[in-house]
Amino acid sequence: MSKELEKMTPELRAFIEEWKAKPGNLIMVLHRVQQTYGYIPREIAIETSEILGVPLAKIYGVITFYNFFRLRKAGKYNIQVCLGTACYLRGGDDVLKEFEKQLGVGLNATTPDGMFSVEAVRCLGCCGLAPVAVVNGEVHGKLSTKDVENIIAKYCAEG
Ligand code: FES
Repeated sequence: MSKELEKMTPELRAFIEEWKAKPGNLIMVLHRVQQTYGYIPREIAIETSEILGVPLAKIYGVITFYNFFRLRKAGKYNIQVCLGTACYLRGGDDVLKEFEKQLGVGLNATTPDGMFSVEAVRCLGCCGLAPVAVVNGEVHGKLSTKDVENIIAKYCAEG
């Protein structure tokens, strides 16, 4: 799969320069990188490491420690499974695992064809429908693991 390299935007470079000397800057900078690209591209992580003078290994240590940072672009359909308390207690975790199993991807990862990505989120504000998953803004409620196949099929059919 060919992949275009992302270029660091002037705004992002200015932001990193501005934060360079401030304590706790790495997390702030990585948030901004993810906001800019939707994930943390490797080439941008390398450039960030050079500008901040922080070893690349340390940057990847932080990225992998916090599961809100993603290493790949979100899929065309981003599946957000709620693991808030109400959803968790009603089996949200099983639903999440079933999505991972059927799509063959881990958490915060994207299928190789770029169609689907899976992430776990906190309360989506519709606990009455627990357990809930949201796909590109569309809410699927009262889920069981049996619904997962149909949800995936629905979006596959939409292409
Ligand atoms: S806990 Fe899942 S929607 Fe609130």
